[in-house]
Amino acid sequence: MSRFMHLHGSAEISHNGHLKIGGVSTIDLAKQYGTPLYVYDTALIKERARGFRKTFKELGVKAEVAYASKAFSCMAIFQLMNEEGLSLDVVSGGELYTALKADFPPERIHFNGNNKSRSELVLAVKEKIGCIVVDNFYELQLLSEITGEMKSKTKVLLRVTPGIEAHTHDYILTGQEDSKFGFDLQNGQAEKAMKLSLESEYIELLGLHCHIGSQIFETTGFILAARKMIEKAAEWNSLYGFVPEVINLGGGFGIRYTQEDDPIAPSQYVKEMILAVKEEVSRTGMSMPEIWIEPGRSLVGDAGTSLYTIGSSKEVPGVRKYLAIDGGMSDNIRPALYRAKYEALIANKADAEPEDTVSIAGKCCESGDMLIWDLPLPDAEAGDLLAVFCTGAYGYSMANNYNRLPRPPVVFVENGKSKLVIRRETYRDLIKLDESLT
Ligand code: LLP
Repeated sequence: MSRFMHLHGSAEISHNGHLKIGGVSTIDLAKQYGTPLYVYDTALIKERARGFRKTFKELGVKAEVAYASKAFSCMAIFQLMNEEGLSLDVVSGGELYTALKADFPPERIHFNGNNKSRSELVLAVKEKIGCIVVDNFYELQLLSEITGEMKSKTKVLLRVTPGIEAHTHDYILTGQEDSKFGFDLQNGQAEKAMKLSLESEYIELLGLHCHIGSQIFETTGFILAARKMIEKAAEWNSLYGFVPEVINLGGGFGIRYTQEDDPIAPSQYVKEMILAVKEEVSRTGMSMPEIWIEPGRSLVGDAGTSLYTIGSSKEVPGVRKYLAIDGGMSDNIRPALYRAKYEALIANKADAEPEDTVSIAGKCCESGDMLIWDLPLPDAEAGDLLAVFCTGAYGYSMANNYNRLPRPPVVFVENGKSKLVIRRETYRDLIKLDESLT
């Protein structure tokens, strides 16, 4: 293993040089479930969940930690998050449906999204979910109508764009003014939305929400956003008597994918946010709101590992060596979409020193389907098992059937045991929705 490599959570290398996660040999997992395979270290997810909650508790702040389920959604992860006392952020009827089927308490479900449909909103209102994060005037109008028709009081947060530029990849920058999300805080839109919400009979305005971006390594953006939101709330308080019970600061806490990433501890983000809110609250004379957050990646990202079997290889003399795996952009689109980088090792030779630099190619018919460029690896051959780390967030949830590749299964591992939580898609599953012409 390269000396820069980092083993996350319970991952370890056993005396025979095999990678183990949650006390289970990855070689055994590959034999039992096949590859490609996503493996989740559930002890690490629980540790992260407890860490967030503990920080709020220690600092005496009322909070809800809502798991941003877009990072990885399935019934089992929702059940685990529920057991850990977390709330849930969903962004579609599909995520909401999955949560309800997993018996997630509706009152702890929050619904985000910039274009919720009438039927999605009706489902949310009917199920009396914890709150709807209203994104725009169209939605506000639609929700006023729906709640009126159903005569059902519904709690709402208004998503605002505080105009903060977070230092991250452009594609995942959402808190700046020119964004498809939320009401602008500077140009009066947010204020108008707040007044409309206060006037709406069945809408109960809980407070404000913002999300400034994803994979962020600095606390500055969160602090600025927190300050801006409280400052505005205080202004609206004196003008219109608006009292925010909740300030939701979104998710976006960065994690370590490779040695180039240097994240701060999750608790640090929370501590600094709380401090900023407290300071601004006492400066403006407001009452202290609850602080809600919505981490996705930082709860599940480094708990996930993808296992692949190495197949073909190709040497371009003097240029590079390609090693191909049995998955690719269909199970991890992040390298192709964001140029995301990952670390990996050969799970059955995990203690071997790297001898070669190779590039890992996916099996999709697309030149851009490269998983890792220039990866130091020990001598690898067909049949070896490649473990790619930190694929727990936006891996399975962004998986697709390009080239009609079936999506891999997901297993949870902990204390020497494994449990299948999503089965492998079969060829039969692939044609399940097809209608034959004959
Ligand atoms: N809350 C809201 C409103 C969001 O839009 C997001 C992410 C989150 C919370 C959770 O952010 P996290 O803690 O996971 O960074 N597919 C991209 C990431 C897109 C993030 C979209 N919104 C990726 O693979 O990097």
